[in-house]
Amino acid sequence: MAPTQPIWLHVCAVNAIPRLGTRVLTHAGGDIALFRTESDSVFALRDRCPHKGGALSQGIVHGEKVTCPLHAWNIGLTTGEACAPDIGCARRFPVRIDAGEVYLSFDETTGSGAAETLGGVTA
Ligand code: FES
Repeated sequence: MAPTQPIWLHVCAVNAIPRLGTRVLTHAGGDIALFRTESDSVFALRDRCPHKGGALSQGIVHGEKVTCPLHAWNIGLTTGEACAPDIGCARRFPVRIDAGEVYLSFDETTGSGAAETLGGVTA
């Protein structure tokens, strides 16, 4: 059996996400926070802090981290891992940027029908 190819779904333009800011992609499996760094890299994490569920999309982006608004844990955007000494992980979604457009990859753990369950990007 051939390996499954990743499914890349168009989300929005990079410029739809403010630099050092966030946007939320609604998804049936739980909202996804999109983060844009100062250098225009884009990352996507489940919008739920691994500590007590704070909305990471309401956090402060700095470097390749976001600081949760509730108790100030720092979460690495490249991995979703909490920075030491804190322990936990927010689910990360692979991101691809092509011609200024953002695409997310979903796999079988996301659930079937991901394409149909993506909502819009909101502030
Ligand atoms: S809920 Fe994010 S640091 Fe506590």
